[in-house]
Amino acid sequence: MIGQAIRQALMAIAIATVGITAPIFSGNAGSAALAATPSATPVAGQTPAEPVPAWAFPGPLNKSVPGSKLAWSDVQMFDRAIAVEWFPEEHPAMPPSVKGRMPLYACGYCHLPEGAGRPESAPLAGLPYEYLLQQAADMRSGARVLPDPSYFAGINMLLTIKHPQLTQQDIDDAARYYSSLKFIKHTRVIEAAEIPAVTTNAFVYVFDETGKREPLGERIIEGPDDFERFERRDPHTTFTAYVPVGSIARGAALAKGNGSTRLSCESCHGEGLKGGALAPPIAGRPVTPQFRQLYAFKIGTRNGAGALLMHPVVADLSQRDMIDLAAYAGSLEP
Ligand code: HEC
Ligand code: HEC
Repeated sequence: MIGQAIRQALMAIAIATVGITAPIFSGNAGSAALAATPSATPVAGQTPAEPVPAWAFPGPLNKSVPGSKLAWSDVQMFDRAIAVEWFPEEHPAMPPSVKGRMPLYACGYCHLPEGAGRPESAPLAGLPYEYLLQQAADMRSGARVLPDPSYFAGINMLLTIKHPQLTQQDIDDAARYYSSLKFIKHTRVIEAAEIPAVTTNAFVYVFDETGKREPLGERIIEGPDDFERFERRDPHTTFTAYVPVGSIARGAALAKGNGSTRLSCESCHGEGLKGGALAPPIAGRPVTPQFRQLYAFKIGTRNGAGALLMHPVVADLSQRDMIDLAAYAGSLEP
């Protein structure tokens, strides 16, 4: 017992001396201190005056993004419990569920504090509060499951939303927060037969920069224009979504409906697909996530009350039709 108390006291001294305060700290220019050379102050129980060989304990590297005064370490940028905040002046204060509250994943890690989302997740900014709550409820009840059950980004979404420590209050706060944000379009939709060659890196495409090319075929290939900024979770990162030649015009024609079973998209999603009384805005939003959702309605993995309205819409659509519709919706101004 006594031995343990002494060990704890020594630990407390060691922590205070080295200056580690908390596992999460808010990003600020002062966070550079984390990467500073460890203090050489002797710790009780150590041989004094022995300088710490800093090279043997390589620390994290602090980085920034263009236009931000803040710095975050590379360790923090990959910590799913933290929403890396680069431009706090561009959004209101985040509630705990969005900002990060150990041991849960932060909503803002994947959806970003600005709600721009990333091609592997979904943009939440500017979606109606009730819609966000309904989707969370559908995911918790199992009415909405993943269109590809092995898609890891989605598995982590479900683990987060179903986590026993996530309260209804947390979800309400996140829904209120994201619905209050203005959605900003970050994706250019470009029709092309041939595109830069791509590799994948953790659920996203990376464009080759050496000039290698590949045919697009019947796919949407969407990726960040600057992979390094994307990796740093810079919310100003822009994206290009390559879509097949002619797909935007074909999507526009399909969006008018088929005159019988398929109503026009605007009849529910509103003029310019900017959102209607019945359905959320889809204009200008990332293209691949929209395709994934059309596909989800089609194969029946989205079955909440709202999804029932989408089932007849997708019933007669081929995958190519859904590529065209996603390309069209993504090409519009939000
Ligand atoms: C590990 C990454 C990750 C985390 C953390 C995460 N999400 Fe998601 N989220 C996703 C992915 C991926 C999807 C798309 C799922 C699909 O394909 O159905 C998604 C979809 C959603 C949607 C549906 C959006 C739409 O337009 O239909 C909502 C709402 C949502 N997330 C809310 C949240 C909230 C609230 C939290 C925090 C409690 C959270 N997410 C945490 C990755 C994440
Ligand atoms: C009869 C009304 C109705 C029509 C017509 C309709 N939608 Fe929808 N759509 C909805 C509703 C309601 C939702 C929300 C579904 C939910 O709550 O799960 C939705 C959701 C979506 C989503 C997913 C959005 C997200 O954030 O996850 C996409 C993409 C979409 N619709 C595209 C289309 C396209 C493209 C068309 C035209 C071909 C279309 N919709 C026509 C009612 C409609």
